[in-house]
Amino acid sequence: RKNMMVHQLAEAANVKPELIVEAADILGRKVYFSTVLTDFGFLCEIVKKLGLRRKLEGGGKTFEKTLLADKDECRSPKPHDMSSFPHRPPIITIMGHVDHGKTTLLDYLRKTTVAEKEAGGITQKIGAFSVKLNEEKNITFLDTPGHAAFTAMRQRGAQLTDIVVLVVAADDGIMEQTEESIRMANESKVPIIVAINKCDSKNAKPEKVIKQLVHHNLEPEKAGGKTQVIQISAKTGMGISNLVESILLEAEMMDLRADPSARVEGVIVESNKSKTHGPVGSVVVQQGILKRGMWLTAGTAFARVKFITDENNKQMSEASPGAAVNIVGWKSLPPVGEIMLQVNTEFRAKEVTQYRSKLQSMEQLDEDWKKISKIRQKEK
Ligand code: GTP
Ligand code: MG
Repeated sequence: RKNMMVHQLAEAANVKPELIVEAADILGRKVYFSTVLTDFGFLCEIVKKLGLRRKLEGGGKTFEKTLLADKDECRSPKPHDMSSFPHRPPIITIMGHVDHGKTTLLDYLRKTTVAEKEAGGITQKIGAFSVKLNEEKNITFLDTPGHAAFTAMRQRGAQLTDIVVLVVAADDGIMEQTEESIRMANESKVPIIVAINKCDSKNAKPEKVIKQLVHHNLEPEKAGGKTQVIQISAKTGMGISNLVESILLEAEMMDLRADPSARVEGVIVESNKSKTHGPVGSVVVQQGILKRGMWLTAGTAFARVKFITDENNKQMSEASPGAAVNIVGWKSLPPVGEIMLQVNTEFRAKEVTQYRSKLQSMEQLDEDWKKISKIRQKEK
């Protein structure tokens, strides 16, 4: 039907007529319930917007089908008893106030413990890297600039980090972002190990920092509290072996294990466009063995794993749980903080990601509606 009154269209689309009035408003036209819509293009625009809305409210067949497809590929429930699975490396996020020495600490850890691997190659800055301590023991470190990834991960319920290493400069003490980091770790129920950094500096006042820590419920073990507090210098390397020991101790108590035979799951830690390889995703594998040729989804992006590289851009045949690697083969940039899931076929990868895109545009539509409603209320 070409000519329809607003309330008739509402009935046909199974939505409230107010919604059409608002949709028209977004499209820049004022209509009333009894307005006859004669302009075909305009009518199509409204139907397009309402079509999405209708599926959201009424649940059309396509909608249900894709919803099921998504459910199929959602995170598998973790078995209650993990004791039969092998151990995995702990995943550590280094957090703290700007300039307190986070980068320097990471650099020190990387240089001293992965020196051999790095010989000849230039280190690429990526969001995560693994440190090999000996034949059995690895630690995976996460660099989350601006805390963006950490926040996004928390919002998506992706419990990625096992332990937070809170870097506090001994001269500055606890600052705004230090407090923010403590809050984030507490909200995610992640244990904190404190590294009081810059202890080599002549302005260092570690005792003062310890007093501040007590106010934030981070009383050192030595003072009868529960928190491991280590004094270090990221510049000279002082105390860093103690810090590594503390991390391993904490991790051992957590008994971290993962199922290597499960469907691959992980988290996107960083993503960027490489000139030679296209979109690259830096990920931490949480379960399953990541291999070439696998189909992956992360939010609205999908990939066929072309190759896997470590932080030195060296190719790897596969990646086990706890490992931090780069994946080449994404068709678009995988969103940071998003959960990465394996699917069986290209068809499924497309179906699932298209469904998610649709859902996203529906959410956007909802946002538009809310904004318009607010403006209209103000005008009244
Ligand atoms: P990002 O947020 O990741 O960039 O790291 P950051 O801002 O927390 O600190 P960064 O490592 O960039 O260090 C800031 C400054 O502090 C640099 O000039 C470092 O050389 C200096 N610094 C870092 N660690 C130490 C330390 O242990 N002792 C002294 N004296 N200086 C340090
Ligand atoms: Mg810095």
